[in-house]
Amino acid sequence: MFSSSEFTLFFAATVVCIFGWILPVHAQSISGIVTTSDQQQLLSPISDSFSFSSDSSSSADITIDPSTVYQQIVGFGSSITDSAAAAMSDLKAANPSMYQQYLQNAFTPQGAALNYLRVPIGSSDFSNTTYSLDDTSGDTSFNSFEIDNAPSYLFSTLADIAAVNSNAKIHILPWSPPAWMKDGNTMNGGSLSSQYVSAYPTYLLKAVQAFKAKGLLVAAVSIQNEPENSNPTYPSCSMTADVQATIAKSLANLSDIKVIGYEHNWQDADAPSAFSGVSFHCYAGSQSDVGAFASQFPNVPMYQTECAGTTGSNFWTDVQWYGMMWIFASPDNGVSPYPGSNSCGNGCRGVTTVTPSGVTYNQEYYSMAHFARAFTSDDGTSIGSRIAANTTSSGSDLTAVAYAVGSKYSLVVMNTGSSASYTFPTGLTTLWWNSTSTDNTSSSSSSSKKRMMRRRKFNI
Ligand SMILES: *[C@@H]1O[C@H](CO)[C@@H](O)[C@H](O)[C@H]1NC(C)=O
Ligand SMILES: *[C@@H]1O[C@H](CO)[C@@H](O)[C@H](O)[C@H]1NC(C)=O
Ligand SMILES: *[C@@H]1O[C@H](CO)[C@@H](O)[C@H](O)[C@H]1NC(C)=O
Ligand SMILES: *[C@@H]1O[C@H](CO)[C@@H](O)[C@H](O)[C@H]1NC(C)=O
Ligand SMILES: *[C@@H]1O[C@H](CO)[C@@H](O)[C@H](O)[C@H]1NC(C)=O
Repeated sequence: MFSSSEFTLFFAATVVCIFGWILPVHAQSISGIVTTSDQQQLLSPISDSFSFSSDSSSSADITIDPSTVYQQIVGFGSSITDSAAAAMSDLKAANPSMYQQYLQNAFTPQGAALNYLRVPIGSSDFSNTTYSLDDTSGDTSFNSFEIDNAPSYLFSTLADIAAVNSNAKIHILPWSPPAWMKDGNTMNGGSLSSQYVSAYPTYLLKAVQAFKAKGLLVAAVSIQNEPENSNPTYPSCSMTADVQATIAKSLANLSDIKVIGYEHNWQDADAPSAFSGVSFHCYAGSQSDVGAFASQFPNVPMYQTECAGTTGSNFWTDVQWYGMMWIFASPDNGVSPYPGSNSCGNGCRGVTTVTPSGVTYNQEYYSMAHFARAFTSDDGTSIGSRIAANTTSSGSDLTAVAYAVGSKYSLVVMNTGSSASYTFPTGLTTLWWNSTSTDNTSSSSSSSKKRMMRRRKFNI
C-alpha cells in the first residue's frame, strides 16, 4: 500500500544496466532478491557478487537522488477477513510448524515484511454468518456492544501475527452498520438511517477501543467499506460523502488513530477535509484518477487498500500492477463463504491459498514482498520513504523505484522486456545496500550534485 502524493507506475527494459549515483558510491556490498516472470526464481536471493564500476557501455541508466524525498510509505499488507482467519486457524491446528513458517514468511522483515492489516468490524462477504458487534435493536448507547461477536479465530490469528511482527498495524472498518441502524433492517445493502447518524460514531469508537483492548496496534479506522456499493446479497451499505464526513468529525478526538474516508474505486473520491487520508480500491477507474486526486488535494495521504486477483489470471501480468491486496488467505480459490453472496464471482484469489495441508504463495505475495522488503528496515521497526529514481533507458521496458529507510537504500527494478544476456531478468528485482556518510549531504546544491555525478555499472 502506498500512502502517496504521487503514484508510481511501472513500465519500461533492457539488457545491461548502468547505475548512476548522484554522489560517489564507495565500495558497497549489495544484497537483493529476484522474482522472474517464468517463476523459476521466487524471492530468490541474488547470489552473484557485483560491484559498481565506471564502465559506461550501457543501454540504460538508473539514477537515484536520495535528497529528493517523496511520500512516506505506510506499509503493505492485506485483509484478515473471518474466512482468512478460519483458513489460517485450520492450518495451525493441522500443522503448527508449517503455520509458524508461513507467518514468518509473510510478516517478518526477512520474509515478505507485510505490516498492514485491514480487518472488518463485524461480518463481511468473507464471513459465513451475519453479525455486527451490537445486534440489540435501539441500543444507541451501545451497552450491548460485544467484540466477541466476532469469531475467536479472528483474534487468535491476529495475535499470532502480532507475535511475529509486533509492528504490524491494524486498519479496521465496517462492511455495514448493525442491521437495526439501517433502512431496511438488514446488513445486506441499504443505508444508515438518518436518525442514527449521530449515534454511529460511538459504535466505531467502541470498536477501536475493543480491538485495542485485545492488544492490537490499531492505526486507522475507515467509516464504511465501499460506500457506493449497496448489495442485497452480502454486508454492504451505501453512504454519502457528507454522512461519512459527519461521522469522521465525531471521531476526530481519536488523536492516535487515522480516520480514513472513501474506501472505494479510483474514480469518485470526494470530501477529504474531514479525514486524515483517503483510500482507494482498484476495481473501477484507473490509476490516473489517483493522480488527478493528488493534484487537487496534494496534502491528503492516500491509501491503496484493496485489489483482488481473480483465479486463473496470469502471474507476470498480475505482478506488474499490484498494490495492497484484498484477502490475505483463502482456503478455496477465494469463493465468498457468505450464504447467498454474489461477491467475487468465481473467486478472488488470496495473497496466499491456505488449506490444512499447505500454503501456496500467489503472485500477490511476491509482488508486495519486493516493495515491502525495500522500504522496511532490516529490524522491521522503521518504514521508509520513496526517493527519486530515473531510468534513462534506450529501451522502454525498465522501471525503477527507490526507497530510503535510515541508512538502507533500496531499488526495485521491473523489467517487462525480454532479457537476452543477463542483467535484470524479466521480472521484479530488489537490491539494497547501506548508504555511506557522503551519499546524502545536506550542503550540496543541485548544480554541485550534477557535477559530482558518476555513472556506475552493475556487473551482475
Ligand atoms: C529525472 O529526470 C527528470 C527529467 O529529465 C529530471 O528533471 C530529474 O532531475 C531526474 N531525476 C533524477 C533523480 O535524476
Ligand atoms: C464457517 O463455518 C464452519 C463450520 O461451522 C467453521 O468451521 C468455519 O471456521 C466458519 N468460518 C468461516 C469464515 O468460514
Ligand atoms: C470522543 O468522542 C466521542 C463521541 O463524541 C466520545 O464518546 C468519546 O468519549 C470521546 N473520546 C475521547 C478519547 O475523548
Ligand atoms: C548494512 O549494515 C548492517 C549493519 O551493519 C548490516 O547488518 C547489513 O548486512 C548491511 N547491508 C548490506 C546490504 O551490506
Ligand atoms: C538527504 O538530504 C536532504 C537535504 O538535507 C534531506 O532533505 C533528505 O531528507 C535526505 N534524504 C534522506 C533519504 O535521508
